[in-house]
Amino acid sequence: MIIGIPKETFPGEARVAMSPDVARRLRGKGFELRLQQGAGLEAGYHDDDYLAAGVEIVDGEAAFAADLVVKVRKPSLEEVARMKEGALHIGFLETCDEKDEVLLAMFERGIRPLAMERIPRISRAQSMDALSSQSNIAGYRAVIEAAARYGRFFPLMMTSAGSVKPARVVVLGVGVAGLQAIATARRLGAEVYAYDIRPETREQIESLGAKPIDLDLGEEGSGAGGYARELSEEARARQQEMLADELARAHVIITTALIPCRPAPILVTESVVKRMREGSVIVDLAAANGGNCPLTEADKVVRKHGVVLVGHTNYPSMMAGDASTFYANNVANLLGIMFEESDDGPHLKDLAEDEITAAALVAPPE
Ligand SMILES: NC(=O)c1ccc[n+]([C@@H]2O[C@H](COP(=O)([O-])OP(=O)(O)OC[C@H]3O[C@@H](n4cnc5c(N)ncnc54)[C@H](O)[C@@H]3O)[C@@H](O)[C@H]2O)c1
Repeated sequence: MIIGIPKETFPGEARVAMSPDVARRLRGKGFELRLQQGAGLEAGYHDDDYLAAGVEIVDGEAAFAADLVVKVRKPSLEEVARMKEGALHIGFLETCDEKDEVLLAMFERGIRPLAMERIPRISRAQSMDALSSQSNIAGYRAVIEAAARYGRFFPLMMTSAGSVKPARVVVLGVGVAGLQAIATARRLGAEVYAYDIRPETREQIESLGAKPIDLDLGEEGSGAGGYARELSEEARARQQEMLADELARAHVIITTALIPCRPAPILVTESVVKRMREGSVIVDLAAANGGNCPLTEADKVVRKHGVVLVGHTNYPSMMAGDASTFYANNVANLLGIMFEESDDGPHLKDLAEDEITAAALVAPPE
């Protein structure tokens, strides 16, 4: 079984789908690995590191011509055309549309895609959950960005030259990224408040030493699979209104609220931004999905009404070394349930038989 690891071509993407250490482990299990020359460079991994791990360094053609192509980002149409008929593809597919042209091109050539974002959020799949490993990094990095752009201290500072109160940080959306944002802001000494529409997050917020913001919207916020559901228009308006005073008092807002395959909910309105103190910072992790604040501009840092709005859309890529290692570990753990070891190398199992691989495998539309 030959695994190909091409260089990522998505603009600004510095991650690579395989790290040298994980590659060494996979070699030990009988996989052959072919990495496109220089694919790991932006993540800090050199071809020599891979060579030492038993990986063959090849050109792009050979990396795409493997039995199994492993990528981080969705391939382009041109990349699909370079893949072998009947090959397997593992990566984020970043689409909610079953008729997506890249997916259709894969199906036409008998390529079987496994989408990392479809790995179910169950205990047994935790080690394969790349959405979580990457969101965790995003939550951490979002706070680091905020702290770097906020012209004041996060912690309480008592010095002979004066005392400063801790920054008031509000985290909106307490999934994986939100929890890590709370933990990171707490470690930096900020006073942290957090809100999520799913009531079960209250306990998690408190366990990290932050204060939950309670709102009674009169509507259930928990949806299927642990995700949030979209609120009615009235509940959304009520939510914005009830959050307004709390948010206007914040010095830093980290927003992470998402609903799968839906536009991000607006939680921070322009009127709230106008009321925030000059120099406050909003890091909008939902920027790629429209933003939790309508003033956010995707992939830009802008200043509006005296508030800095950070709209980066790829935080894991800003920490590409660790992000790539986490991702490669997730992939290797997935391969662990896809293949069984045998004397003549790894054998692909029936992917429909395991609930994890069955959920990740994207089937052609009927
Ligand atoms: N293996 C596991 O058991 C496992 C692993 C990871 C995550 N999970 C669960 O999966 C679920 C999704 O986590 P995620 O990090 O992918 O979430 P996500 O990225 O889809 O969304 C981030 C957060 O935004 C919240 N949100 C959505 N709309 C909102 C609104 N209008 N107002 C306030 N908050 C809003 C969501 O409730 C969620 O907590 C969570 O329940 C999480 O605990 C389980």
